[in-house]
Amino acid sequence: MSDPREILITSALPYANGPIHIGHLVEYIQTDIWARFQRMRGHRCWYVCADDAHGTPIMLKARQEGISPEALIARVSAEHQADFAAFRVAFDNYHSTHSDENRHYASLIYERNRDAGHIARRTITQAYDPVEQMFLPDRFIKGECPKCGAPDQYGDNCEVCGASYSPNELKNPRSAVSGAVPEQRESDHYFFKLADFDEMLKAWTGGGSLQKEVANKLGEWFASGLQEWDISRDAPYFGFEIPDHPGKFFYVWLDAPIGYMASFQNLCDSPKGQAAGLDFDRFWSRDSKAELYHFIGKDIIYFHALFWPAMLHGAGFRVPSAIFAHGFLTVDGSKMSKSRGTFIKARTYLDHLNPEYLRYYFAAKLGSGVDDIDLSLEDFAFRVNADLVGKVVNIASRSAGFITKRFAGRLSAALPAPALFAEFVAAGGSIAEAYERREYSRAVREIMALADRANQYIDEQAPWVAAKQPGRETELQDICTQGLNLFRLLIGWLKPILPGTAADSEAFLQVPPLTWADLDRPLLDHQIAPFKPLMTRVEPAQVAALLEASKEDLTGDGASRPGASADQSVPAIDTATPATHLARDPLAPTIDFDTFAKVDLRVARIVAAERVEGADKLLALTLDLGGETRQVFAGIRAAYDPAALVGRLTVMVANLAPRKMRFGVSEGMVLAAGPGGADIFILTPDDGAEPGMKVK
Ligand code: MSP
Ligand code: ZN
Repeated sequence: MSDPREILITSALPYANGPIHIGHLVEYIQTDIWARFQRMRGHRCWYVCADDAHGTPIMLKARQEGISPEALIARVSAEHQADFAAFRVAFDNYHSTHSDENRHYASLIYERNRDAGHIARRTITQAYDPVEQMFLPDRFIKGECPKCGAPDQYGDNCEVCGASYSPNELKNPRSAVSGAVPEQRESDHYFFKLADFDEMLKAWTGGGSLQKEVANKLGEWFASGLQEWDISRDAPYFGFEIPDHPGKFFYVWLDAPIGYMASFQNLCDSPKGQAAGLDFDRFWSRDSKAELYHFIGKDIIYFHALFWPAMLHGAGFRVPSAIFAHGFLTVDGSKMSKSRGTFIKARTYLDHLNPEYLRYYFAAKLGSGVDDIDLSLEDFAFRVNADLVGKVVNIASRSAGFITKRFAGRLSAALPAPALFAEFVAAGGSIAEAYERREYSRAVREIMALADRANQYIDEQAPWVAAKQPGRETELQDICTQGLNLFRLLIGWLKPILPGTAADSEAFLQVPPLTWADLDRPLLDHQIAPFKPLMTRVEPAQVAALLEASKEDLTGDGASRPGASADQSVPAIDTATPATHLARDPLAPTIDFDTFAKVDLRVARIVAAERVEGADKLLALTLDLGGETRQVFAGIRAAYDPAALVGRLTVMVANLAPRKMRFGVSEGMVLAAGPGGADIFILTPDDGAEPGMKVK
């Protein structure tokens, strides 16, 4: 192997005003897998993180709970760390942006940029809440949407019609904090002159530090010109006061990424860091040879690929070696939703399911790009059961029993099929390359193909037959030794993804923690422990209970918008869930009769209903209109058994323009109510209606 690399990696710092949910976990699991892989390869890889503890939402949430912001962030930090630990996300250090180290580096980076002329001061006009006596971030102004008139919309975009606008366009604006009518007031703000770094950023972007899609996006941003960035906020604010400017605070996004440095400094100063001889400058100085990678979601690329390297550079520090952005998690094809029970908190998941399942499922879906990834709950159970329980663990359970019972736990001294073992070892290089490139789905595919191969070997050798035939003892021991050795390679390769199962397997095999280099040689003439089941199946009832419990979690305050902690457009992943259907889905604007009459609704009989290969949510329906038939794809698979639909009458939109889908042409739509998933209800006419009748 090549010389050990020195690598510092981070995940984005979660906001300290809400719980970790499974969307976050895509990122922390992705990063943790990479860190574990690098360590298994013998590299010196440090993984640090922290809570992002500053900003208006955290200040207001603490106020609402009647506690200090410090008390709030201490409680949330403990919860976050417990959740991460349970998912086996193994940070080398977890710190807070509300820390001495962060105050030090935030001030230093600001001062160095200021002294180099990269900070400007300007007076701006901003909405002000006269009751609370505070300036209002966009997200804390509510009013009627200027486009569609929907009430109660936030300051920057409408959740009903999707329009985005600036808060001063809202009709009847109100402060979301006090309900007062906002005033416009002037205040001095400090701006970071991002355009000063135009050339440096272009060179960095062109240097291969970014994924293709991200580099393209940056190209667009460069083309539209780099704007000055407002890095200050007025009191009251929970954050760091700007040196020499009492009453002015650093905007949360100024000190948030600096939290990566702060956490690393804190690690350097800890006993662990000192024992390892960690030195801050070796990682952060401009001539550092260490690698620095930030794993982030695609919503915060601007901050990490523009502001952050510019700030670092302006202050004389090194810039990141690369930014690794990932997409967003959807559940069953949609944004996570509290009403559907798919807004799943890490803690709720842990109450029902083994964290290794989710780690495996995410890995099986993750590539190196920024595509969103979907957690299909049906597919989740299927893959975990088929791959992990049915293939990998099965190899061990098929082999171990005989070794324990017939050979007192002893493995043979030689492999009966060394060529097969060598074939497996040879595959390790490609698997390692897939991990290195963050193509975990490819690594998983390759490992599972080998798991199939191992099971095939056992099928062919049929140890259970040898076990019944006297005189074949040695052969039986050899076959099982071969099986367990193949299992050992598979579990070794899966170890970054399944650290818990790997640790149990190491205990069962009675070997020290597996490294990548160990996987070149077989385990022979060796004593193993009795086999205990390493993993159980996912039961549909557990998944159902998880969704049910996630629905019950709705008791939380409706006003907090997850992910909305910044007052600069960082898209939220979900919105508060209003209590009624009408509130969730407000009535559409009035139409005249003629507009309605254009829609040709007909009674139709479902004459056939089938699942669609490759589409988890769809059923293909054949509808009889009393003479003509139509094919319609309906997203009702989670709610209806196809067989139970055949023969039923329903109502369809018969004059909708046909739509070409991946699976065929959809020639209309059936009418159904409900949010989707399992909560969808198709309409049925009263008895007596006949196919083809017009609905009016
Ligand atoms: N506090 C900022 C990050 C500051 S980094 C210096 C923040 N926090 S967050 O809690 O909203 O998100 C933390 C990370 O989780 C982000 O990288 C974000 O993209 C990611 N995710 C949050 N929801 C997600 C999904 N639904 N799916 C995938 N990743 C998601 O942003
Ligand atoms: Zn609107």
